[in-house]
Amino acid sequence: MNRINMFISFEGIDGCGKTTQIKMLEEYLSREKIEFISLREPGGTEFSELIREILLSKKNKLNGISELFLFEAARSDLTEKVIVPALEAGKVVLCDRFYDSTFAYQGFGRKIDLEAIKNCNFLAAHGYTTSVTFYLSISRSLSSERTSGKELDRMESSGNEFFERVIEGFEFLSETEPDRFIKLDGGESKEQIHQRIVDIINSKLNHDKVK
Ligand code: TYD
Repeated sequence: MNRINMFISFEGIDGCGKTTQIKMLEEYLSREKIEFISLREPGGTEFSELIREILLSKKNKLNGISELFLFEAARSDLTEKVIVPALEAGKVVLCDRFYDSTFAYQGFGRKIDLEAIKNCNFLAAHGYTTSVTFYLSISRSLSSERTSGKELDRMESSGNEFFERVIEGFEFLSETEPDRFIKLDGGESKEQIHQRIVDIINSKLNHDKVK
């Protein structure tokens, strides 16, 4: 087995194709005999899965600040118990969402102070950052089209204006951190997107080798 220490997350609004891309990347890493673990946020530990239920259940009426702290509590537990040990063991960590979702959803979406969000993210991630984040960009209308008929959870019921602001948040990150937060066109074919992801990962690995 090959060991590479890399922390890769995926971001985007509902229906952007994260799940498909993560699955294709998992298959690629298995073929290349690269050890990895695949996680989702919020979730991945017993405690974080409980928090996930609270966050997504429509029965719960939460304000933005309570929501923020619950996402961060779930993250802190997952990071400490699963992500850090995996990275230290030289594994690739794939994560379906990480702190950039908090920046976009709670920061831009719920309009919570962005500096406060950054500080909370830093604490909950125990100072760790992603090596690379793939943002699959699609419009709100394509998202609604791709997810029509699906029963919406609490977060997904936040309305059009909320999701337009979330998209603005992701766009802001792709403009301010273009080396880490990489925007890909979620409207391209899944094969094209997968090839771009593999090429970017390999170029980062080669770059690290040269350093
Ligand atoms: P999930 O069912 O995993 O959504 P998806 O399949 O779209 O990734 O639910 C996670 C929801 O929580 C999703 O609507 C995004 C939201 N979220 C935040 O608002 N802040 C966060 O920090 C994270 C990690 C997720």
